[in-house]
Amino acid sequence: MKIKIAPSILASDFAHMADNVRKLTENGADLVHCDVMDGNFVPPITFGAQMVKQIRPHTPLPLDCHLMVLHPETHLEDFASAGADLISVHAEACGKNLVKTMRTIKSLGVKAAAVVNPETPVSALFDCAEEADMLLVMSVHPGWGGQKFIPETLKKLEELRAFCIKNGREELDIQVDGGVTEENAGEIISAGANVLVAGSTVFRAVDMRATIARLRSA
Ligand code: DX5
Ligand code: ZN
Repeated sequence: MKIKIAPSILASDFAHMADNVRKLTENGADLVHCDVMDGNFVPPITFGAQMVKQIRPHTPLPLDCHLMVLHPETHLEDFASAGADLISVHAEACGKNLVKTMRTIKSLGVKAAAVVNPETPVSALFDCAEEADMLLVMSVHPGWGGQKFIPETLKKLEELRAFCIKNGREELDIQVDGGVTEENAGEIISAGANVLVAGSTVFRAVDMRATIARLRSA
């Protein structure tokens, strides 16, 4: 499967966002991962659709918007019109409405993904695998960059990839988010993920281009 690297702008200097996304574009990133936090679903507040709208003209890369918010359904139109290419919503925030929320995202012409937190089993994603353009497994507790990868995530990735293969969706993108480094990227890819979010690893790199390339070929 094609391995894609999605650097998270959460780890970058917010005062220079246009330059940050330009740098990602020039250095071979595949997606720009935008961590949206509302101070409710997770304690911190980051930014919303306004930021997505303002970075949109500065990169041709797809904007991958990870909504760590309560009531994500109330924000979907804003992110779609701001220029999001993909919107990820948490199973924990959507509850029974996960499939419905993903259908709404797609009706807005945007790709849809569903996410599980570390304490939520991947089986919470099974019902929406048919509509999903991507499934995301959190490998840290959402809310902060720079945390350590939770090793139990590897088993969850294996289980999810096995489910996808069994259900005729072997090509479905599986994303992993949190604590991805050059050291653990290889085992993460072997476990079944093909889209790697990396915030600190990419933005703290001495050579961003080489780091992105090494993550991709790990
Ligand atoms: C955590 C965010 C992640 C985070 C990843 O809530 O969803 O995207 O920024 O950062 P690193 O790669 O530093 O763990
Ligand atoms: Zn994220």
